[in-house]
Amino acid sequence: MKALVLAGGKGTRLRPLTYTMPKQLVPVANKPILHFVMAQVADAGLSDVGVIVAPETGDAIRASLGDGSRWGLRITYIVQEQPAGLAHAVKTAAPFLGTDPFLMFLGDNLVQGGVGELVEEFAGAGEDAALLLKEVVDPRAFGVAVLDGGGRVTRLVEKPRDPPSNLALVGVYVFSPRVHEAISRIAPSWRGELEITDAIQELIALGGKVRARILEGWWLDTGKKDDLLEANRVVLDHYACRYIAGEVGGESQVVGRVEVGEGACIRRSVVRGPAVIGRGAYLEDCFVGPFTAVGDGSKLRGVSIEHSVVLDSCELCDVGPIEDSLIGRSVRVVRANSRHRALRLFLGDEAEVAV
Ligand code: DAU
Repeated sequence: MKALVLAGGKGTRLRPLTYTMPKQLVPVANKPILHFVMAQVADAGLSDVGVIVAPETGDAIRASLGDGSRWGLRITYIVQEQPAGLAHAVKTAAPFLGTDPFLMFLGDNLVQGGVGELVEEFAGAGEDAALLLKEVVDPRAFGVAVLDGGGRVTRLVEKPRDPPSNLALVGVYVFSPRVHEAISRIAPSWRGELEITDAIQELIALGGKVRARILEGWWLDTGKKDDLLEANRVVLDHYACRYIAGEVGGESQVVGRVEVGEGACIRRSVVRGPAVIGRGAYLEDCFVGPFTAVGDGSKLRGVSIEHSVVLDSCELCDVGPIEDSLIGRSVRVVRANSRHRALRLFLGDEAEVAV
């Protein structure tokens, strides 16, 4: 079985971060989301992986993943000229996929426990598709599936206004090569995309067997700011361990599961885990609270911050308390030395500030 990881698309919902990096490379707990995906593909026992990239972001993704050997994978990059839909991505990858069954994994999604069981079940069952679903409170932002009593999928709708069930498609699918025929029969949806949900519906109409597995653990779709902060919280909660490679000054306190990267330096500060402080980061007179990730080389002085993500090479000085914040690379936030309390801002397009 092959794997197809989708790392194309536009990432409009995470602007302004995604003006300068593909959304699949935005870090969660200081590690790009796509790296978690690659590790889960490898854990499922697959090694031949096609990675869909967009022309604008392909180089950044190639630089981050390389040839995949870090995970024991063999990566083939496939450029999708336009983000014309998930089924269009499969169509673009058809020469790579050939007549093999394949696991399709959206590169901005994380699932607890990996995808090994879905892959294993599919291998023995003679089905045409297996889908991972998750019960959600409001499924309107997702693809939604309806099941019969025996776990078989009977109907799918993409982002329905009036959802027929609360089972959302998680972005992990296994397909037999029959899906290509189904894709060749569908037309673009109202949003102009070739939808994989429509292709699966077509597969059912062709007599294909489509089974679902309900995910009991967490699922994180990192598409928007709050989702990303939640992903950071959950990943730190589950995976952070105590590992101190950098230097922690005697007058500092590092409490609980905190990772302090090589070359990092912590002075007169308190860090409460779960948290991760990147390589070469510098903290002085700071309080860094739980569920915070500080990126490589970022410098924080006189800052109180929690439940936030600060990417690499930032400078934050005498500001805070900061909470529930997502701060992009090389951002500078400093207290102005002025008597009046006017804000002086120099913000990129689509930045968001709540004061
Ligand atoms: O997150 C789960 C949802 O993902 C499912 O419930 C939906 O059924 C499914 O359509 C999808 O919806 P989104 O609107 O969230 O998809 P998005 O546009 O964010 O794309 C998902 C991933 O696929 C993302 O990493 C970008 C990549 N992609 C997307 C498109 C449209 C491509 O590589 N090529 C594309 O053409």
